[in-house]
Amino acid sequence: MAVMVLIGAQWGDEGKGKATDLYGERVQWVVRYQGGNNAGHTVVLPDGQKFAIRLIPSGILTPGITNVIGNGVVVNPGALLEELGELEKREVDTSGLLISADAHLVMPYHVAIDRVTERYLGKAKIGTTGRGIGPAYQDKVARMGVRAQDLLDESILRQKIESALELKNQILVKVYNRKALDPGKIFDDVLEQAAQFSHRIADTRLLLDQAISRGEHVLMEGSQGTLLDVDHGTYPFVTSSNPTSGGAAVGAGIGATRLTAVMGILKAYTTRVGSGPFPTELHDEWGEYLRKTGGEVGVNTGRDRRCGWFDAVIARYATRVNGITDYFLTKLDVLSSLEQVPICVGYRVDGEQLDEMPLTQTDFHHAEPVYEYLPGWFEDITGCRDFDELPANAQAYVRRVEELSGSRISAIGVGPGREQTIVLHDILEEQG
Ligand code: IMP
Repeated sequence: MAVMVLIGAQWGDEGKGKATDLYGERVQWVVRYQGGNNAGHTVVLPDGQKFAIRLIPSGILTPGITNVIGNGVVVNPGALLEELGELEKREVDTSGLLISADAHLVMPYHVAIDRVTERYLGKAKIGTTGRGIGPAYQDKVARMGVRAQDLLDESILRQKIESALELKNQILVKVYNRKALDPGKIFDDVLEQAAQFSHRIADTRLLLDQAISRGEHVLMEGSQGTLLDVDHGTYPFVTSSNPTSGGAAVGAGIGATRLTAVMGILKAYTTRVGSGPFPTELHDEWGEYLRKTGGEVGVNTGRDRRCGWFDAVIARYATRVNGITDYFLTKLDVLSSLEQVPICVGYRVDGEQLDEMPLTQTDFHHAEPVYEYLPGWFEDITGCRDFDELPANAQAYVRRVEELSGSRISAIGVGPGREQTIVLHDILEEQG
């Protein structure tokens, strides 16, 4: 039995789809535990079909898997139906999708407030995806959220929407000079949407616990990444939930002692979308090289990703805060054809060298990378399926990343295709 968390070790977009490709067909459950339709990853099926998944767990593409949207996720009903519709149009069986009764809903006023707040912040904006994720989590913590279970009780639903809008409309009209939203229309729309998915609402905590007790394999799919975690990330330039592994137990409603492995997804270089500090960011032709070669454009928003060299300080930090047992190093092929490959091994802040994350955000903003340069390789590695087939310099790069990150590298991505992976340790096999 394995309950494995997959978590991005950087700022998201590390290529988690590769790991779900590797393990997805051998698990019985795939669970999303935080975030919402702000996430986005591409899954390429063996027949070459490409799917962009946002809110629904990626296990939906594998027949026979039960997919859970956990209590820690925020669900936009319209986005959910749109995604289900797209999948069904392409003949994907979506019957195995369940939604926790305690998951909160993203309402139209959350989306409206996300967008006006970003505009209001101007240069200080977070660069959110504009999907209403932050405002939905704000309402959850403020105890004025609407949950999936409220869709099963019309009078409660109406009451909650009306009472939330009493405040939200004041904010929209008086602070942001926008039009008030009509609670009756929102209620009618949500009710109509709910009729199409309320049969999926379930006590997913109980079902997961029972499945784990039966010895079934569960994949906990984190979205965003460690440095976007609201507690452990580069606050305030973060998302509003906990992608880090502790969030998996809370956001799925299972005990922390149930987790058996934490796989960190680590890109062989670094990217970030949205605002916020990024010590190894490249503003020169090398940044452009990584963006072009790595196809670094957001799946969800179409925004260009900011690119930089591999940062071992961040990886070490991710190992620590997530308890990462294994790493999946993705996109190694993007680094082929470089004379030398820089790795950031520490930071210089105000003349002092640091090996770990600075104490304050101010210092992190001022952190200058200290690089070590490894010899590059020019061979095409996209056909390699065994570690020994990699050129010696690529092997040395992987081993150095492993040493600096502090956890073993168990898989390496050498191309976008499902089969373009080198497996060094099979976690599911090891865990039986
Ligand atoms: P929000 O999650 O839409 O509130 O956006 C907050 C921050 O998280 C912004 O910097 C977004 O660009 C970033 N973000 C949200 N989702 C993703 C993702 O799936 N990949 C990478 N960055 C993300």
